[in-house]
Amino acid sequence: MSIQTYRASLLHFAAPTQSPKEDYVYIADGLLVTRNGKIEFIGEYKDNIHQYLDAKHHDYSGKLILPGFIDSHLHFPQTEMLASFGEQLLDWLTDYTFPVERKFENKEYASRIAKVFLKQLYRHGTTTGMVYSSVHKQAADALFEEAQNNEMLLIAGKVCMDRHCPDWLQDTAASAQQDTAQLIETWHNNGRLKYAITPRFAPTSTPEQLHALGELAQQYPDVYIQTHLSENHNEIAWVKELFPERKNYLDVYDHYNLLRKGAVFGHGIHLEQSEWQRLRETEAAIAFCPTSNLFLGSGLFDLAKAQQENVPVTLATDVGGGTSFSMLKTMSEAYKICQLKGNQIDPMQGLYLMTQGSAVTLDLDDKIGNLNPGTDADFVVLDPEFDELTALRFEHHRTPQDLIFALSMLADDRAVFATYIAGKPVYQAQNNTQEEVHNVA
Ligand code: GUN
Ligand code: ZN
Repeated sequence: MSIQTYRASLLHFAAPTQSPKEDYVYIADGLLVTRNGKIEFIGEYKDNIHQYLDAKHHDYSGKLILPGFIDSHLHFPQTEMLASFGEQLLDWLTDYTFPVERKFENKEYASRIAKVFLKQLYRHGTTTGMVYSSVHKQAADALFEEAQNNEMLLIAGKVCMDRHCPDWLQDTAASAQQDTAQLIETWHNNGRLKYAITPRFAPTSTPEQLHALGELAQQYPDVYIQTHLSENHNEIAWVKELFPERKNYLDVYDHYNLLRKGAVFGHGIHLEQSEWQRLRETEAAIAFCPTSNLFLGSGLFDLAKAQQENVPVTLATDVGGGTSFSMLKTMSEAYKICQLKGNQIDPMQGLYLMTQGSAVTLDLDDKIGNLNPGTDADFVVLDPEFDELTALRFEHHRTPQDLIFALSMLADDRAVFATYIAGKPVYQAQNNTQEEVHNVA
């Protein structure tokens, strides 16, 4: 593929930072150049375009290019059960989640939903997900195959659970270890794909299974780990009953060697002080999932406390506990939760958590999360003025902060004009007639 140039406003964080409010890079009339799926250059349009006159040019003037969003915790088999009424976590799992996940024993079905799922990510501007599959090995294969068709940097894992769920959805300690090992061998670092060892959560794994997965984590030190932690009061009480010899919920995972950099724990709403400390020591991260936490009535995550404790936080939808694939909407709900906690999340902090901040936490910032030359060309083109109201709101917008804040409050997939992965369009809005969409059927 040849060189492509894009004219738009550009916004990103070029380096890791504790101060996203100050440390963003904004180029009002910017030029982004890609070559062979990677970003080659960013800078001022007028000063640099003359060097690229032979390139294929995309005029996105008046639009905003951001790094593709990273959704660091969501469930692909739950795509079809978003917005299921009326339960909190444990009943919601039993009544809605487990019956739906059963369908993924059929690989054809899993492939069909994987296509829908990835299309949803792209139309919302998300280019990387850290994804839970179902318990079935073949469903994880289906998801990886579809992601590979789009050259996507996807992190995913087969859920492991060998108790406290229906028989028809259980693996065993041995089969979870064997299937996970095979999936790692097949998919981890195959192209852009990455693997995450995925015990569902402590209540659905026997000590034998957690031990087996901890062994795998040691055998494969660069794979990711993902699970759930301290989401709901009844869940936490149950973990204490099931593992009375452990100090607290996190200590269950710690005991089985499942804490390290690259481990991402969903929720962490009701943590004890020693759990914050242990997360900090091990550089494990919390995925903050605001729409899910509100929807399932789980509680209000304390982002300010996490920052004070120096624990890495990423932002995530947790679809289907979460209610939207949109990371913009997710950011707006994060803001509201922080308001209820007496804090305000700065819009640039919110943007950081869904781009560069997540990439840094996952040790992927040399590939994704920013618009630096040399990284993969995964980016989203937003049209801030996508309807009459937003056209009015943004006629006189004041600063990049104001733009991002109001977009998070007012926008969703309607603001996504195009999404690019490895330099190729994987989604284009209907009013965008620039080029054919690559590959996604
Ligand atoms: N805890 C264990 N499994 C799940 C799940 O699928 N979703 C959420 N939100 N929490 C969980
Ligand atoms: Zn989850």
